[in-house]
Amino acid sequence: MITTGVIQTQHNHRARIKVIGLLTLLLSGCENFTPAPVNFSQQDIVEIGDVHTLEIDGQVLSSLPKTEIPVNTDRVALGRLLFWDPILSGDKDVACATCHLPEHAYTDGLMQSVGVGGSGRGIDRQAGHTGFVRRNSQGLTNTGWNGIDEVGLFNPETAPMFWDSRVNSLALQALEPIRDLQEMRGEQFTREQIDQEIETRLNNIEAYRKLFAASFGNGAVTLQNAGIAMAEFQKTLSANNTPYDRWMRGEADAMTAGQVSAMQEFVIAGCADCHSGPMFSDFELHVLGAAEHGVRDEPDSGDGNFAFRTPTLRQLDFTAPYFHNGQFATLSSAINFYDERRSSANPNVASSALDADLLDIPEMDEGRGAFIQNFLDALNDSNFDRTIPQSVPSGLQPGGL
Ligand code: HEC
Ligand code: HEC
Repeated sequence: MITTGVIQTQHNHRARIKVIGLLTLLLSGCENFTPAPVNFSQQDIVEIGDVHTLEIDGQVLSSLPKTEIPVNTDRVALGRLLFWDPILSGDKDVACATCHLPEHAYTDGLMQSVGVGGSGRGIDRQAGHTGFVRRNSQGLTNTGWNGIDEVGLFNPETAPMFWDSRVNSLALQALEPIRDLQEMRGEQFTREQIDQEIETRLNNIEAYRKLFAASFGNGAVTLQNAGIAMAEFQKTLSANNTPYDRWMRGEADAMTAGQVSAMQEFVIAGCADCHSGPMFSDFELHVLGAAEHGVRDEPDSGDGNFAFRTPTLRQLDFTAPYFHNGQFATLSSAINFYDERRSSANPNVASSALDADLLDIPEMDEGRGAFIQNFLDALNDSNFDRTIPQSVPSGLQPGGL
């Protein structure tokens, strides 16, 4: 009884504070959150290998490497064509690029993606007979760095892929959408048939035989090599020159004073407990208990706990809507999800299962969330490869669109 009373009192108290906060906001027209004084400077930045690191409040933030990931240019050229060629889909109507478009930093702008049977491009795309896929398409700029740690070390072979990290490496990831009924396979072919079907198709196109031979040697037109080539192409989609990266590399005016202060607030609020390293992801799975949206989505990570991988916070200007099911249309609503989040919003996830790092995040409304957003705004780089091939070797429409 007493405990309940205390909670209720606190609750009412907080509700009253919120009302007062809202009134202040309405009256003064500005938020009432005051950030802590900045307690570091650019002098504290330490260069380790090709990344620049800065310790703030016991957490280390890092830039992305300035150097591009080394690639084989023949494979990149082949991989780009494959990425845009709908020949990789059962009904020849969907390419990787259908759901990964350059103008959205290689996602599609939809809450949940539309593959087989759909029509239209980007946010105008309409679902066909196989409906929506269960998840929000992930952006592919910088994906070649998945798994990178705070000092810039990473291993492309073990790089975690998908919202639930169920596959490792870009090369193996690329085979999954081809085999997926709703994404690319369609009903004409079974999962067992599709690999052979695609290999046969590629072998029948002379231009592909030549390109595969140049990249991998004669007789090398295999689906596995197609995956390796598409991985090589995706490694070139870097966007590693954001205002934040430039500031970390010593450009004093690359970020505003407000953004520098917001960077500290991002750490103090606990965001960097999970959004860490050069990609602002620890690449670990966490239970946040975000609400279901449309379909029940139990990740394949195997713990039955609806754990999702921490996504990067780079390129968010391009990649709305947010979260694994695209439930947040705006960045401010995604940040506001964290507002004193102490209970699960998903009926399938117990509040006691929530990640411990979630439980000490302070309130996000009343200005703190909006303030932190200033820092996230410094994590966008619009200068990445957006080349769309004019034609693909199959003669089909690039992107299937
Ligand atoms: C129908 C839309 C669709 C098509 C077609 C598609 N993808 Fe995706 N892609 C998605 C969605 C949705 C996810 C997240 C899926 C999940 O987590 O289960 C994703 C995730 C990815 C990821 C993981 C990124 C990361 O950071 O973990 C990569 C890489 C990727 N796709 C590349 C490709 C390639 C290469 C192709 C073509 C062979 C392709 N996609 C075809 C929708 C699509
Ligand atoms: C316990 C680990 C953890 C903490 C702490 C955390 N996040 Fe997240 N964040 C995640 C995970 C996991 C997701 C994906 C959740 C999902 O899709 O269901 C996510 C998603 C996001 C997204 C959406 C990104 C996208 O591409 O969809 C934003 C924005 C975000 N977090 C910002 C923040 C901010 C700001 C803070 C601090 C207030 C924060 N996060 C604290 C783990 C965390």
